[in-house]
Amino acid sequence: MPYPGTTGLLRLLPLGMAAALLLCLFPPLKASRQRQARGQAIIDSASDAIISIDSHHTILHANAAAARLFGDTQDGMRGMRLGHYILRDLRSLSKHDGEPQFDDIGQELRLTGRRATDYTLTGRRSDGAMFPLEGSLSAMQEGGRIVSTIIVRDISARKQVHEQLARSFSQLRELSSALQTIREEERKHIARELHDDLGQLLATLRVDLTLVRQHTDTTLSLQALLQSMDGLLVTAITSLRRIASNLRPRALDEGGLYFALQKLRHDFLLRRTVHFDLLADEADLVLDDARSTAIYRIVQEALTNIARHAEASHITIALHRIDSSLAITIQDDGRGIAEHDLEKSTALGLLGMRERVWGLSGSIHIGADNELGGTRIEITVPMHAEEHESALQ
Ligand SMILES: Nc1ncnc2c1ncn2[C@@H]1O[C@H](COP(=O)(O)OP(=O)(O)OP(=O)(O)O)[C@@H](O)[C@H]1O
Ligand SMILES: [Mg+2]
Repeated sequence: MPYPGTTGLLRLLPLGMAAALLLCLFPPLKASRQRQARGQAIIDSASDAIISIDSHHTILHANAAAARLFGDTQDGMRGMRLGHYILRDLRSLSKHDGEPQFDDIGQELRLTGRRATDYTLTGRRSDGAMFPLEGSLSAMQEGGRIVSTIIVRDISARKQVHEQLARSFSQLRELSSALQTIREEERKHIARELHDDLGQLLATLRVDLTLVRQHTDTTLSLQALLQSMDGLLVTAITSLRRIASNLRPRALDEGGLYFALQKLRHDFLLRRTVHFDLLADEADLVLDDARSTAIYRIVQEALTNIARHAEASHITIALHRIDSSLAITIQDDGRGIAEHDLEKSTALGLLGMRERVWGLSGSIHIGADNELGGTRIEITVPMHAEEHESALQ
């Protein structure tokens, strides 16, 4: 009887036994199968959703986590198009009738310039509910065809936290801006009361004192006392003017921003010997009170900083209208500002400056100045409230 050989023998055996015999005869085949089974088990027990697709985006395999995530079964997902579960984004859904398109993922990654790990998508559960996903993609060759594996994770909770954070951040900004406005209004009110009420009283008192001093029947010692009282009254009036002016610069109300900035420069030069250029066109600085006050306070803080920290000998402040915005540049040739100076937790000046600019929907950049070699502050704010409001929308 001829020896049947391995192939002949396999043909004679039932299918199950043949497979078992094959695995015994070819140990490498067995090891490879074990490896495959282990890999499959890892994929199936993974907590992230893992989906393999072919080049036509047909799902070859979805693990248990993927089935849970999309509210389907692993068998139900197999053979379905990936676009049924993962949408490129919600906009693509409204553009297409019927099944949303899922364009080439790799192409999309290249277009957006994101790394695979940064890729955010929109998922759709079997009940139609949409949810945000984060995913990564990898591709490999398997038996001559390309199989892509997508790992996705539900980021609804993270997105909610992110949105809440963004909301409270913008509320904080609004609060800060409202507080600045209230503060300025209060300062303006107190300054006016001091000037118009207390100032007038002191002035009247001084006139009365002059009348008393004109009396000839007073003793010498009384005259001396009256003169000293007059001296004290003059000091009180000067202090009151200074306090009121610090609270609310009268120049702002009397001559507008241009005049107030000229006064600021003049006062600065009274105490320091520096080269100070103020480059502005009066017509560009006709602004509403909120803008004028904010810009005045910003320049005031910048000048205080230059005096306190910069050791500068040259200052240039330029304010120019560019279309519907005002561009402000403040430069000095001092020691320059370090990166860590911008984040000092105890320093409030630069923070206040930023808050004022943001409150007007403007932008601010503080850094090194290449021209003068010290510090440069660049600010842009909309000229009018309309631009400010439309920028907020
Ligand atoms: N023009 C400048 N040149 C050099 N360093 C500066 C200049 N402006 C600010 N700085 C640095 O930046 C830091 C932060 O400035 P900021 O105005 O916020 O705080 P501050 O002036 O120290 O205190 P304050 O809260 O009273 O304003 C300063 O401490 C200083 O080191
Ligand atoms: Mg300061």
